[in-house]
Parts: sequence; structure tokens; C-alpha cells
Amino acid sequence: MHRWPMWLGLLLGLGAAYMGFALHQGIEDQWSAATRYTARVGFPVLILAYVARPLAEIGWSKWLLAKRRWIGLGFAMSHSVHLVCIFYLFQTLGETPPAVTLIFGGLAYALLYAMAFTSNRGAMKALGARWKTLHRIGIHYLWFIFAQSYLGRIFQDGKIEEGIIGATIAFGAAAIRFMAWRRRRRKVAPA
Ligand code: HEM
Repeated sequence: MHRWPMWLGLLLGLGAAYMGFALHQGIEDQWSAATRYTARVGFPVLILAYVARPLAEIGWSKWLLAKRRWIGLGFAMSHSVHLVCIFYLFQTLGETPPAVTLIFGGLAYALLYAMAFTSNRGAMKALGARWKTLHRIGIHYLWFIFAQSYLGRIFQDGKIEEGIIGATIAFGAAAIRFMAWRRRRRKVAPA
């Protein structure tokens, strides 16, 4: 029962892909919308995992932290649907994604699946300090892909609003992490 955020992530991904097909016409537009929508629904899920510990540290909800593993796996689920949509979109277009997207996006997926498959006590024990390093680098990198994607949209015609909304959420979350980090540092080295 405590795994529900993971299944909710899958449901959100599948629902988003379905909406891409329901709201658009023509197979190319449908896969393209499904690709966009699946990335969009995953974003708040990732952000919840990103701010779970800092929010608990600055005295907000501890609930998110207790559920963080399953929220992270929820993001892995919804973003797996994004990956399937990407595959069929480019198959339909008869193209391959730009090399930069393949490299940076591919690295993000490698980190995402490395994190997902090590999200258990056995792997935590086996990896020791490396577990924390992997998960810390991974979540910051995934945040970075979203942040740069939405930041870039602010400067694209017709995409300004989604860029502003997405970038505000991404940088708001980063500000929460920064606040928690400063608090931790102050505790370690009191002035
Ligand atoms: C090889 C890997 C990837 C490929 C080829 C890829 C491809 C795509 C494509 C084709 C779109 C639709 C673009 C458009 O029509 O405007 C898209 C949207 C998007 N993708 Fe991916 N993607 C990859 C990985 C990722 C990853 C790992 C993330 C995040 C961690 C991500 C986040 C996004 C975002 C934020 C959008 C825009 C969603 C929106 O419109 O709000 N993508 N991606």
C-alpha cells in the first residue's frame, strides 16, 4: 500500500500519453503531444522527491521524506512512459533525436535507472557512501535537465508562459534546497 506513489507515477504517465492522443490528431502530433505531456506530469513528481529532505530539515512536512523512495520510483515510472513515447515519436518521424539530446538525455536515463534499481536497502548497504553520491548527482542532474529545458522556453516565441511556470517551479525548489543546505552548514560551524 505504501508503494502507491510509484503506481500513481505510472498512471500519470499513461494518462498523459492517452491525453496526447485524445487531444490531438494525426499520428505525429499525437506522439509529439504524448512526449511533451509525459515529461510535464513527471516534473512535479521529480520536484517532490527533490525537496523532500530539505522540507523536512527546515521543519515542514516529514511525510514527503518518508515517501521519497516511492515518489522517486513514481518519477522513474512516468519517465519510462516518456521514453516509450520518444521511441515511437522518432520511429513515426523516421528521424533520430539530435546528438546533444541523445547524450544529455541518455545520461539522464542512465542515472535515473541506476537510482531506481538501487532504491532499496540491499543496494544502499552494498554501495555505502557511493549510494549517496549517485543519488545526489542523479537528482541534481535530472533537475538540471528540466530547469534548462523550461528556462530555454522563456526565450522561445509561444512558449514563454510554460517556460516561466516551469522555471519558477524548478528554481523555487532549488531555493528550498539551498536554504536547507545553509541551515545545515550553520549548524556544523556555528558563528
Ligand atoms: C534521450 C533522451 C530524451 C529524448 C530524445 C527526449 C525527447 C523529447 C522530445 C522530442 C520532446 C518534445 C519536444 C517538443 O515538442 O517541444 C521532449 C519534451 C520534454 N522532455 Fe524529453 N527527451 C529525453 C529525455 C528527457 C529527460 C531525461 C528529461 C528530464 C529529466 C526530459 C524532459 C523533457 C521536458 C521538460 C520536455 C518538455 C515538456 C513540456 O512541453 O512541458 N526529457 N523530450
